[in-house]
Amino acid sequence: MSVRASASCDPSAQRSAAKFAPREIAQVSAKKAAVVETPKPVVPTPVVAGAAVAAAAAAVVAIKSKKSAPKKQRRIVIAGAPASGKGTQCELIVKKFGLTHISAGDLLRAAVAEGTPAGLKAKEYMDRGDLVPNEVVVTMVKDRLAQPDCTKGWLLDGYPRSEEQAEALIESGIQPDLFLLLDVPDEILIDRVVGRRLDPVDGTIYHMTFFPPPNAEVAARLTQRSDDTEEKAANRLAVHHRNVDAVVGKYEKIMKTVDGNRAKTDVFADIERIIKAM
Ligand code: AP5
Repeated sequence: MSVRASASCDPSAQRSAAKFAPREIAQVSAKKAAVVETPKPVVPTPVVAGAAVAAAAAAVVAIKSKKSAPKKQRRIVIAGAPASGKGTQCELIVKKFGLTHISAGDLLRAAVAEGTPAGLKAKEYMDRGDLVPNEVVVTMVKDRLAQPDCTKGWLLDGYPRSEEQAEALIESGIQPDLFLLLDVPDEILIDRVVGRRLDPVDGTIYHMTFFPPPNAEVAARLTQRSDDTEEKAANRLAVHHRNVDAVVGKYEKIMKTVDGNRAKTDVFADIERIIKAM
C-alpha cells in the first residue's frame, strides 16, 4: 500500500481534511508562511544601544559590589543547660555562617590537657561540675576574642555563665548581637550527657542512641568526657539553674529562646532563620 493511499484511508487524516475547507487550508498555509517569514534584521538605534550598554555596565557593577561586600560580622552567644545541644548546634552554625567558634569548655579542657597553671586550677572545678573561678576563665575568653580570626564574627559557646562573667564582658565593651538560649527539659538532659561520645579525630559529637557513630572504626576511637557521669551532670545542671536567670537578665533585649528538644535539624532550622534575620 502506498503512503498516499494509506493516508487517504487513515480516519484521522480524513478528520483533518474535513476540519479544514480548501479556503481555510489556504489561510492556515498563509499563516504558517507568515510565521516562518525571515525576520527583518533589527538595527539598534543609538538610544537603544546606549541603554543596553548602560544596563550591562550596571549589572557588572552590581555583581562586583556583591562579590566585594563584606560579610556580616555576627557576634552570637549560645547558652543552655549541660547537653542542651550547644556544641551540636555550633557545628552546624559554623558550617553555615563561617563564624569563629569559641567554647569556654573547650578552652578550659585544652588548658587542662596542656597542664598550664590555669588548667591545673580549672581541673578540680571541672571534675566536680562546678564553675571554674572567674580569674581563670574571664581572661582566657577575653584573650581568645582578641585573636584576629574573631574579626569575621564569633560564636561564643557556654560563656558568660554567671552574672559576673556577663558584667566582665560588658565592661570590656564586648557586646553580642544575639543571645540564643536552647531550652530542653531537665529530664532529657541527663540521658544526653551520659550517652555522649566525642570523636577525637574530627571533633564530631555523637550520642550512642540519638546520633550513633557511622561504623565500627569510628565507634572504636570515641572518647567520653570525664564529667559526663550522671552524678556530675546533676551538679552541672544545678549550677546552670542557679545562674541562668542572672545571665539572661543582661541580654533580654537580644535574646531568642529556641526549643532544643527536637531533632537537631529542626532546632538548627529555627536558629538559621533567626541568624539570617539579624
Ligand atoms: P562545657 O564543656 O561547656 O559543658 P556544658 O555546658 O555542660 O555543655 P555540654 O558541652 O555538656 O553540652 P552541649 O550543650 O554542648 O551539648 P552537646 O551538643 O554536646 O563545660 C564543661 C565544664 O567547664 C563546666 O562544667 C565548668 O566546670 C567549666 N566551664 C565551662 N564554661 C565555663 C564558664 N563560662 N565559667 C566557668 N566554668 C566553665 O550535646 C550533648 C549530647 O546530646 C550529645 O551526645 C549530642 O549528640 C546529643 N544531642 C545534641 N542535640 C540533640 C538533639 N537535638 N536531640 C538528641 N540528642 C542531641
